[in-house]
Amino acid sequence: METLGIDIGGTKIAGGICDEKGNIRCLQRVPTPEDAADINAAVADIYRRCKGEGDIRAIGISAAGNIASDRRTVSFAANLPAWHQYPLADAIEDLVGDGVKVIVENDANAAGWGEYRFGAGRGTHNMVMITVGTGVGGAIIVNDRLVRGGFGMAGEIGHIVMVPDGEACGCGLFGCAEQYASGSALERFAWSAARRQPNQSEHLLEACEYDRSKLIGPMVRDAAQQGDPTANEAFNLLGEWLGRLMANLSAVLDPEAFVIGGGVAEVGGMLLDPARAAFSRYLQASMYRQHPSILEARAGGKAGIIGAADLARDIDLARVD
Ligand code: BGC
Ligand code: NA
Ligand code: ZN
Repeated sequence: METLGIDIGGTKIAGGICDEKGNIRCLQRVPTPEDAADINAAVADIYRRCKGEGDIRAIGISAAGNIASDRRTVSFAANLPAWHQYPLADAIEDLVGDGVKVIVENDANAAGWGEYRFGAGRGTHNMVMITVGTGVGGAIIVNDRLVRGGFGMAGEIGHIVMVPDGEACGCGLFGCAEQYASGSALERFAWSAARRQPNQSEHLLEACEYDRSKLIGPMVRDAAQQGDPTANEAFNLLGEWLGRLMANLSAVLDPEAFVIGGGVAEVGGMLLDPARAAFSRYLQASMYRQHPSILEARAGGKAGIIGAADLARDIDLARVD
């Protein structure tokens, strides 16, 4: 059965027809509009453009937010205010018609499922995915099942409080992992190090024109590669937090593998090496247990599309009436 997978991200909406092996056809990309109705229209438009190319019975949507256990309603999306208690699946089913069913899944859950089925996590039975982007997302797979929890919201790894009374988080809490192990945290670390040691941060300061508001993650990566010691330090610090987060998760879940994805993780070893080192230091009973593999995600930006499409395949099982 073919399904359409669509990933609604902060900057773009991407989607295509996915087969049972995780291949995508008819891949479409459009910038994400601001309001909810325009987002729905853009999704329906992708469906219309793909419709002639396959027998689409269901659409799986990957969306950045807390999804209710009905897998149809976005309960809360820190970065998309229009989506609070929003019946996303209803809206899209109405627009698309043709009897096509829609399910909605949290973006990191969809990406984690995509990596587990078709990417870096293939062959494992217990896997945790952490997406390191603007925010920090998580997916938990236990005994080959995606864990949704009692109310649909399991896997919000980014909002584990790591620092009591720490940095303010977009979710309203303080000290969430998202404020220490994300792309936004990387920028903050790099800027504060650059202010302390400007002569160790020349490439970065030049790239952002000495302006904090112009500093973006890729500049930190480039500066680290060009030899700014502080940019390297920022990656080490990010890795340290990520390792600590994974060690905490191992204490609870003991997965065989962690798959690290999201835009920031594309730097590979620069982030994963310090994360692996920190992980070993913080892991309980470290010397007396098997350690999980800490892997780079493989499906890249497409994991959410293929994961959501795959989850939409068992739509009748997954629906809660
Ligand atoms: C949200 C998650 C989402 C993650 C990655 C977090 O801030 O709470 O629902 O999966 O960002 O987009
Ligand atoms: Na999640
Ligand atoms: Zn938070």
